[in-house]
Amino acid sequence: MKNDVLYMEAVSVSFDGFKALNNVNLFIKQRELRFLIGPNGAGKTTLLDVICGKTKPDMGRVFYNEEFDLLRMKPSKICKAGISRKFQAPSVFGSLTVEENLRLSIPKNRELFSSFFDNQKGSIETVDEVLETVGLTEKRNWLASQLAHGEKQWLEIGLTIIQKPKLLLVDEPVAGMTGGERDKTGILLTKIAKDCSVIVVEHDMKFVERFSSTVTVLHEGRVISDGSYEKVKKDPYVIDVYLGRDGGKHESAAS
Ligand SMILES: Nc1ncnc2c1ncn2[C@@H]1O[C@H](COP(=O)(O)OP(=O)(O)OP(=O)(O)O)[C@@H](O)[C@H]1O
Ligand SMILES: [Mg+2]
Repeated sequence: MKNDVLYMEAVSVSFDGFKALNNVNLFIKQRELRFLIGPNGAGKTTLLDVICGKTKPDMGRVFYNEEFDLLRMKPSKICKAGISRKFQAPSVFGSLTVEENLRLSIPKNRELFSSFFDNQKGSIETVDEVLETVGLTEKRNWLASQLAHGEKQWLEIGLTIIQKPKLLLVDEPVAGMTGGERDKTGILLTKIAKDCSVIVVEHDMKFVERFSSTVTVLHEGRVISDGSYEKVKKDPYVIDVYLGRDGGKHESAAS
């Protein structure tokens, strides 16, 4: 458990007797960028649901930063403790500007509006920093609804990193993106992982190949392989259940 940001041991989740996760172990180190891959229904999203407290497992242990027992914490507490999640469904407010969206996500603003004024200087610095990181400085005054699909996704990532998480969970970040947007997203996630551990669920194997260091493969609720993408893509079991003989049937058309 030492130095693990996330320690997940023997976790099982059942839905009406169906095992969505079956005895899963997952250990994530500080500032690690881990990719989670596997066929539809493998349990990838369920695994993220367990980490952020949305789904409680039937069995197992899940610790964050060695000290927090995530199975005893509510989602809001887990979030406050430093675990942020970017969902696939959009959560930006289209009628607010990019900057306003970011300001709303600064944790202090949510608790007490007056504290916003006390901390305004700090907030401006944080907002500037995040705008720079996600590449939206030039568009800070644009309405979020005016952004291109990829830019909206980066703003969403900005909404999570402005909370200064220690662990960021991202489900299928490059779905629907152009090739150029995917590359930018990969570079962005790599940059974020210099400060924070990141778990990325993704089906785009070109993206995984280019940006992953470690990959965990799930199938029918079990971890069936892990290691570098180079290693797992040669694993006969992974080829059989997911990647196929051509090693790339999950690349999307836009890549
Ligand atoms: N709330 C739920 N109630 C019942 N079954 C569920 C629930 N959530 C997930 N499942 C089932 O658990 C299995 C794992 O689902 P999950 O969404 O975790 O898969 P996934 O790996 O994220 O798949 P995909 O790549 O399609 O997103 C699926 O068979 C799914 O139907
Ligand atoms: Mg999923």
